[in-house]
Amino acid sequence: MSAIFLKRFLQRPFQVASIIPSSRTLIRRVADKMDLSQPRVIVEYGPGEGCHTREIVRRMHPDSHLILFELDPELAQHLEEQFRPDRRVTVLNADCATLAAELAQRGHTHCDYIVSGIPFSILEPAKKRELLRHTYDSLAPEDSAAFIIYQVTNELVGHCRHFPRVESEYCLQNLPPMFVTKFYKTANGSAPKHAGANGKNGHHRNGNGRH
Ligand SMILES: C[S@@+](CC[C@H](N)C(=O)[O-])C[C@H]1O[C@@H](n2cnc3c(N)ncnc32)[C@H](O)[C@@H]1O
Repeated sequence: MSAIFLKRFLQRPFQVASIIPSSRTLIRRVADKMDLSQPRVIVEYGPGEGCHTREIVRRMHPDSHLILFELDPELAQHLEEQFRPDRRVTVLNADCATLAAELAQRGHTHCDYIVSGIPFSILEPAKKRELLRHTYDSLAPEDSAAFIIYQVTNELVGHCRHFPRVESEYCLQNLPPMFVTKFYKTANGSAPKHAGANGKNGHHRNGNGRH
């Protein structure tokens, strides 16, 4: 499964940004951040050859819908072939910046989870800000709705102050080790009361994150 990934990395190193897919441990840690027992609309940015996708598909409810945004045409084709038999999965060879339009086209006002594997840290600042704003706006105004990312650095926390609550953990069992960070949208834009004070590995932001 990873030969195609390495090949596409050699063709587009800055876009693909990794020579090997995520480890099993990282994949499980990311999937554990979601409650997939209910019907959900889930979005994945940059699935690559589909290592996280397979785990999400394995766990998700029969009435869920998973929309994949993969910019690389060969990887998108590979995903299409892999998930064609599953009517819950839609593969788009598209920039994840088009998320709002693609959701609307499928009759969804919002989605419940967005999982991202794209190399945010090398995005140009204006594009990064815009993408993070679209990401926030596309999530349902629910306490369970969240944006989940895995990244070498945790620099995105500083760019996501509009998310009222953040939890982060470090996964050493991946090459390279990664931060797995979950940004909650929450129902009213403030940290939920039941969440406890500053959770074990995370921190909360109150109000609209303007401090
Ligand atoms: C580091 S790889 C992650 C692959 C896989 N999720 C994993 O964990 O092994 C990043 C992927 O994001 C894709 N990508 C980068 N920018 C993107 C964008 N703006 N929209 C959609 N996909 C993008 C790349 O083509 C590549 O497949």
